[in-house]
This record gives sequence, structure tokens and C-alpha cells, in this order.
Amino acid sequence: MTRVIITGGTGLIGRGLGLRLRERGYDVALLSRRKNPGAEIKTFYWDPAKGEVDREAVETADFVVHLAGANISGKRWSKKRRKEIVDSRAETAKLLFDKFKNTDNKLKAFISASGANYYGVLTSEKIFAENDSPGTGFMGETCRLWEEAANSFSNLGKRVAILRTGVVLSGKGGALPKMLTPVKLGVGSPVGSGRQYMPWIHIEDICNLYINAIENNDVEGPYNAVAPQHVTNEYFMKTLARVLDKPFRAPNVPGFVMKTLYGSMAEIILRGSRLSAEKIKSTGYEFHFPELEGALREELLKGE
Ligand SMILES: NC(=O)c1ccc[n+]([C@@H]2O[C@H](COP(=O)([O-])OP(=O)(O)OC[C@H]3O[C@@H](n4cnc5c(N)ncnc54)[C@H](OP(=O)(O)O)[C@@H]3O)[C@@H](O)[C@H]2O)c1
Repeated sequence: MTRVIITGGTGLIGRGLGLRLRERGYDVALLSRRKNPGAEIKTFYWDPAKGEVDREAVETADFVVHLAGANISGKRWSKKRRKEIVDSRAETAKLLFDKFKNTDNKLKAFISASGANYYGVLTSEKIFAENDSPGTGFMGETCRLWEEAANSFSNLGKRVAILRTGVVLSGKGGALPKMLTPVKLGVGSPVGSGRQYMPWIHIEDICNLYINAIENNDVEGPYNAVAPQHVTNEYFMKTLARVLDKPFRAPNVPGFVMKTLYGSMAEIILRGSRLSAEKIKSTGYEFHFPELEGALREELLKGE
């Protein structure tokens, strides 16, 4: 059986990916900081701060999917939190690199998450493609360091694939449930100017893109993991209100309110550009949810 080890596999994407991989007959195991996260899936322990990784995980992995990372929007970005955001992604990848370098292993590919904010957090009319340079702010720098650490696996002769992921739409967690509250209360409105773009992807598609990266040897290097339809924040919020059959008439939430509430982290809500999905489509991948309305209906109304 082919073993896939998922770091951060207890999170939103990891849970969905683990289920789908098991359905396809993979032997899925998690690499978690929690010794007994209550999962029925086999779980290996690591303690990134102490440099500890269960040796069996390293020896037996055919693929590693690296999803570990302190939640970007979980807390205000203090200096300490910024370090945690970077280290939980880049230093953990470096730790894994050291372990794989010094242990007999059969790893075929290292597949890592990255963010759509790789290109920086800015609103522009440019459509960013994979060969564009990383942005200069905190998010751009975080993604650059994260990807650099993942790419070091190519020095071991391993295939490396990186998915620069947009906002993942799932009814089970992440950003979408948080955006629902005002809409359900009938005060859904755009945030800031509303003209910032919001690269997004349905949970089904991001999981399938990881499976595509495992199964398709030609998937190598960075890919924008975003749906092909480009939407602004205003379009997103309007569509959400329509899907939930709620009014959309409240005034925009001013940017300064977001900055007061969230500090510098507000930038990831207030700014955004478009990313091209052409490269990932050229691998033969067909999106299940290429359009926002269908994606929202599936997540919010299924089972009703
Ligand atoms: N969801 C999105 O919209 C989105 C968009 C763009 C990029 N991404 C990226 O995709 C990856 C997976 O996303 P997700 O939404 O599934 O994340 P998530 O739900 O926040 O889960 C991430 C997992 O990472 C581990 N983790 C948390 N803090 C950590 C730390 N300080 N050190 C090491 N591990 C830590 C945890 O697993 P354990 O407790 O088991 O160790 C956690 O379950 C993340 O790197 C995220 O930045 C996600």
C-alpha cells in the first residue's frame, strides 16, 4: 500500500484529504503535535520545537503532504505570532528535510501547501502566474521561506509540488462559516472597498489537487490552487447573500473598522489580486466547482 503522511492532517484540508485518500485505497497517516488527537487514522508524533519526528514516519512515507502551519487568521500578528506563522511552516519543512536526508527512506514526492498571498497582499489588475516573483510584505516573505524549505527536497532527488492556495470554501471550517454570520443576520456587506479580489477554491477541488499532485508525476514546482473564476469581495458577499436568500443592502464595512479589530492582519481581507488557474488546468485537472455560486450552494445548501 502507498503510504501518505500528512503533516497538520488534523486541520480543515487534511481531514478532507485523508478521507478521500483512504477511499482511494491509500494508507494514510498523520504527523501531529498531539499524541492522541482522537483520530481513527494512524498518527505519528512530532515535536517541531524539540526537533523530534517519529522515525517510522520518515522510513515508511511514500509521499509527504505538508499542511502544518499556525492559523494565519487565528490571532493578531504580534511579533511572536509572526514568528510562529513562519516557523510552523518553513522550520517544520526544514526539520523534515534533515530527517529524510539522514534516514533511509522511499519518499517519492514532497507536496506542500503555500498561499495565494505568495505574490504579496495587494489589490491590482494584474493576474499573477507562477513565474511571477514573491511579494515583499509579511505574507509574501512567509510563503517564499515556506516554499524555499519545501524545495530543498529536490536536493535529495525528490519531486516537489507546491499548491499556492486561495481561500478554501468549506461549510465545516475555515473562512466561510465566519463570513456567514452577518449575512444570516441580514447585514451582509462588502468589506473595505469591496473591489479587492478574493482567490478561492472549493474544499473538494483543493483535496483533489493534492491527489492530482500525488498521482501525476508531471506535477512538479509551484501551482496556483485557485478556481478559474475571479471574484471581488463585493461579488463574493452578494453571491453569498443570494445563495442564502438574504438581503444585501448594508453599507460596506470600512477598512479602519477591520484594522481596529484585526490590526495588520486585516490586510489579507482588505486587499487581493487575481491568480491564474491556467497552469494547474494544463496538467489535465478539471475543476468540480469552477464557479463560486455552485461552490457555495454545494457547501451551504447540501442536505437541505
Ligand atoms: N484553509 C485555507 O483557506 C487555506 C488557504 C491558503 C493556504 N492554506 C494553508 O494550507 C495548510 C492547511 O490549511 P488548513 O486550513 O487545513 O489549516 P488548519 O485547519 O489551521 O490546520 C493546520 C494544522 O497544522 C498544525 N499546526 C497548527 N499550529 C501549528 C504549529 N504552531 N506548529 C506545527 N503545526 C501546527 C495542526 O495540526 P496538529 O495539531 O495535529 O499538529 C493543525 O491542525 C496551512 O498551511 C494553511 O496555511 C489554507
